[in-house]
This record gives sequence, structure tokens and C-alpha cells, in this order.
Amino acid sequence: GGIALWGGRFASGPSEALARLSKSTQFDWRLADDDIAGSRAHARALGRAGHLSEEELIAMESALDELQRQVDSGEFAPQESDEDEATALERGLLAIAGDELGGKLRAGRSRNDQIATLIRMWLRRQARAISKEVLQVVYAIIEQSKTAGHAVMPGRTHMQHAQPVLVAHQLMAHAWPLLRDLDRLMDWDKRAAYSPYGSGALAGNTLGLDPQAVAAELGFVDVTENSIDGTSSRDLVAEFSFIAAMIGVDISRLSEEIIIWNTQEFGFVHLDDAYSTGSSIMPQKKNPDIAELARGKAGRLIGDLTGLLTTLKGLPTAYARDLQEDKEAVFDQVDTLLILLPAFTGMIATMRFNFDRMEEEAPTGFALATDIAEWLVKQKVPFRHAHELSGECVRIAEERGVELWDLNDDDFIQEFNDFLDPDTAPYVREVLSTRGSVNSRVGKGGTAYDRVVEQIEQAEKKYAQV
Ligand code: ARG
Repeated sequence: GGIALWGGRFASGPSEALARLSKSTQFDWRLADDDIAGSRAHARALGRAGHLSEEELIAMESALDELQRQVDSGEFAPQESDEDEATALERGLLAIAGDELGGKLRAGRSRNDQIATLIRMWLRRQARAISKEVLQVVYAIIEQSKTAGHAVMPGRTHMQHAQPVLVAHQLMAHAWPLLRDLDRLMDWDKRAAYSPYGSGALAGNTLGLDPQAVAAELGFVDVTENSIDGTSSRDLVAEFSFIAAMIGVDISRLSEEIIIWNTQEFGFVHLDDAYSTGSSIMPQKKNPDIAELARGKAGRLIGDLTGLLTTLKGLPTAYARDLQEDKEAVFDQVDTLLILLPAFTGMIATMRFNFDRMEEEAPTGFALATDIAEWLVKQKVPFRHAHELSGECVRIAEERGVELWDLNDDDFIQEFNDFLDPDTAPYVREVLSTRGSVNSRVGKGGTAYDRVVEQIEQAEKKYAQV
């Protein structure tokens, strides 16, 4: 039969419907290792406070070792009647240590401070695992950027050709948000490094336990300052959840580009066979499923965050059972990211660009119009007029069905004649090349080759700090 961690004041056991609703072992069992680590630290705190004799502490520690061994081997697992992981582990401990000794461990702690501590321990570890995977994505982006070198492509706003950019510049635009996500995870950890263990149910403990020692043993920097806050706030879980959702969104943005670049009409990128899928009916199909799944899973990651925030909103302060709902949201996010990110990295690392095609498209759609306007500014034409004149060049080219560089000297002489003398006007051609356009954007953060090389170096430096 099972045990409950409560029951003294109840005349009957829980109804089956309640037990089914209440049960959380199907998802919280993954906290078992952290719970046992917490129990070990708690046992020592009980020992130091004189609630366990030296022999009892030794026996308790070896019982916990045995319990860990049984959990690792699968010999011990939750059963149907266990309410949650803590209930299951108590049953396991009692079976090993006996009711007398095993029954002493719970003194001075509550599942409320326990669970609040365990979720932090677990998430801190997962934050590191996710960081490693995000780093792999960043690394793959950086490598692709280096391979792209001087290659150019159409830069777009509103999906319309805007100005040519280096392929590396466009790719690196996706590395930076991910590097900031890594920053966010590290920064989040600073706040998550405080242990609620010892907060008890809400008000603290009466048994003279030393929560700081417990915190230190569990890898925390210190104890939470307020036991009510420690047991009932989940802002740190929500913050983690936001970062997970943000990573999903950042990956999704790059996915959308790849999906578009991979269309027949664009033909900018070729995905490796090992990272593409086929169709069950159309033999010719090769689909960018990883990018699509990434885009789809971003929705799910956002949903997890939204669900969690909605659960937290309007809770009365101090523990309420609603808080049990925090776990599945972040468990799902962690599982999702740890499956998604390696596949995503593989897709990015192995994709091959059609640089010729990108280069060919880069200056089209009058993408050099801004260069004409800015060249005129350098000839002292006020930008308002320069913009107008360049726009007229676009209109003429569009009417003739040609590109800007196809206009002849007379066109420029005539267009610019209110501001420039005829000898100067044709020199506008100097900026009517993709490479000239790209390499003239030399301000920090610009798409000029030298700036992009510096940018990649900066990203690598940041990358090395993680
Ligand atoms: N399983 C609960 C949770 O995950 C912890 C148990 C608290 N239960 C209680 N009755 N105080 O949040």
C-alpha cells in the first residue's frame, strides 16, 4: 500500500478522482535526484541542530545513498498511490531506513520549500545544458558567416529589396539575439542562486536549522531573504520560461528566412539531405522540416510561458496548489529545446548557399537608390532633394524596364542639372555597384566587409566568455 504525507486529521482517504487529479509523479519524478540531494543536506542540518544523533545521521546518509542507487537502477519508482515525487521518496526511504529513523527526516521542512528549491536546482542545471546547445547554433552561424566572406545578397525590409548586404551580415544578425539569450540565462542564474530550503511551509522553521549550510551544499549562493517569497514566488521560473520562449522565437526568425531562401523562386540555400525530409506522395519533394518544426515549436514554447504566467496571475501570496502547474510548462520547454537545438544546429552547419544567385539578385529592385542619394549628399545636395532626384532616376529606370546602372550619362546630367555641373553628374556611377554600396557602409555595425569581420571577432569573443 502507499503512504501519504498527511492523513492524521482525515477520517477517509482521498477519493480516486482526487488522487488522479492530485498526482504529479508522472512529471515531477525527474526532480528525484535533486530531492535526494536536498534530503542529504537537510539531514546534516538536522544533525547539526541536534535532531539526529551522529549514528542516526550516518544511518540516514547511507539510507539516502541506497535510495539514490535504487532510483538510478529503476528498482525504486513511484507507484500509483504516490501523490508526488516527495511522497514517493518518503515511501522509499521508510522502506530502507524503517519508520523510526526514516520518519525523522521531514522535520523542519515542507514540500513547499522543498519543491521551490528543487525547481531552481533543476532549472539551473538545464540552463547550462540549453546554453551549450544555443552556443552550438551560434558557432554554426559564425562558421557560415566566415564561409560567406565577401558574398552579397539583397537586404530586405518589408520583404522588399532595400539595400545590398553581406550574407555574413544577414546571418550574424541572428547570432546576436542568441548571444543575448545566453547572457540572459547567465544573468537569470544570478537571481536563481538563492535557496528557499528552510522556509518551511511559509514562515520559516523552529528547529534551529541552518538554511545557509543547506543552500551552500546544494550549490546556492545564499538563502532567500523571505520565507513567504521563497516558497510562493515563481517569477524565476517564469523568467526562465521567457528566455526559453525567446530562444524559440529567435530560432524561428532564422527558420523563416531559411524556408524562404530554400524556395524554388529564391534558390538561395541548399539544405543537406540529412537535414531535410521527403514527401509520401511527391517523389521530388525535399522539405525544410527542421526549420518548420522550429517555427512551430516556437508557438508551443510561447504557450508554455503564457500558461505559466496565467497560472501565477492573481494567486494569493504564499503556497497554493496552483503552483504545482509551474513544472510541466518548463519541463516541456526544456525537452523541446534540447531536442530542437541539435537538429537546428545540424541544419545550419550543413546548409550551402548559392552565392552566385544571391549576388546576382543583390543590387536589383533599385537597391542602390540610397547610394545615389547619399552620393548626392556628398556633392552638397540637401538630402531632401537628393532623395527626390534619386527617386526620379528610379522612375525613369522602371519606365524603361532597366536597372539604375543602365541609365546613361545624359540621364544623370539632366536629372542633376539643378545642383551639379554636367562634368560631375556621371561620376554617380562610382557608387552604382553592389560591392561599392556594401563597402561604403563603414560605420560601426554596418555591412562593410571590414566591419563584419570585426563583428564576427566580437561575437567570437563573447562566445568564448560563455
Ligand atoms: N507537489 C506540489 C508542487 O509541486 C508540492 C506539494 C505541496 N503540497 C501541499 N499540499 N502543500 O507544488
